[in-house]
Amino acid sequence: MIALRTTREFDLIRESCKVVGAAHQALRDLVRPGVSTGELDGLAEQAVRSAGAEPAFKGYHGYPATACISVNEVVVHGIPGERTLESGDVVSIDIGAKLKGYFGDQAITFPVGEIEEPVSCLLEVTRQSLFDGIDGARAGGRLADISGAVQSCVEENGFSVVRQFVGHGIGRKLHEDPPVPNYVPVDRNPRLRAGMVLAIEPMVNLGRPEVCVADDGWTASAVDGKPSAHFEHVVAVTDGDPEILTMTEDELGFL
Ligand code: MF3
Ligand code: CO
Repeated sequence: MIALRTTREFDLIRESCKVVGAAHQALRDLVRPGVSTGELDGLAEQAVRSAGAEPAFKGYHGYPATACISVNEVVVHGIPGERTLESGDVVSIDIGAKLKGYFGDQAITFPVGEIEEPVSCLLEVTRQSLFDGIDGARAGGRLADISGAVQSCVEENGFSVVRQFVGHGIGRKLHEDPPVPNYVPVDRNPRLRAGMVLAIEPMVNLGRPEVCVADDGWTASAVDGKPSAHFEHVVAVTDGDPEILTMTEDELGFL
């Protein structure tokens, strides 16, 4: 069952997304060589709590932190800790928040210091694939319009879409129906309707698509050890253009 949200619920989800966006904005300038992933996580938690919200990932199936911080070949769910960032790294930061019973969720991959090709191209293509997917989130269309748009963008540029993790509906829970894969064919291909809210989150590998999870039960890395990128937005399907609930002034200025 895919929930259809009222305008008031869109507003509540947007509020939670704003908290997540502000946390990303606060971290953006601190992502530089020498900072540890644990420090970044502490700042993410402060940003979320000072906005009156709760970290959504902490405690979720036992996840121990506010943010997932995934460096280089780590695709998703990297656990923050003592690792320090170095120039040339790429770091994905994924943050979730819960405010007034509604969830927000966003991921951005940042370059650390100076990065080289083809890694900077990987970041650009992954961001572009997210926007291509978002453009497919239109009432009357189908879920596969999103998935297919992401996959085409990624594969036309010679990169690989991760299969083991997918996007999701979001609202009263962090993960709701439907799963939102970044590839076609999809198992279920529901029609999109105004009121649906989807977290679209391409995870893209520079090399092969396979991912394996470490003994900690979370850290998911590219099997071939090559870098990976992850961008995520929460998007509302409307009667008109899709609305990106996680969009910030900061990102608008950057695009
Ligand atoms: N953005 C990711 C997702 O939606 C992060 C979940 S991390 C977890 O799946 F710790 F909450 F599992
Ligand atoms: Co998500």
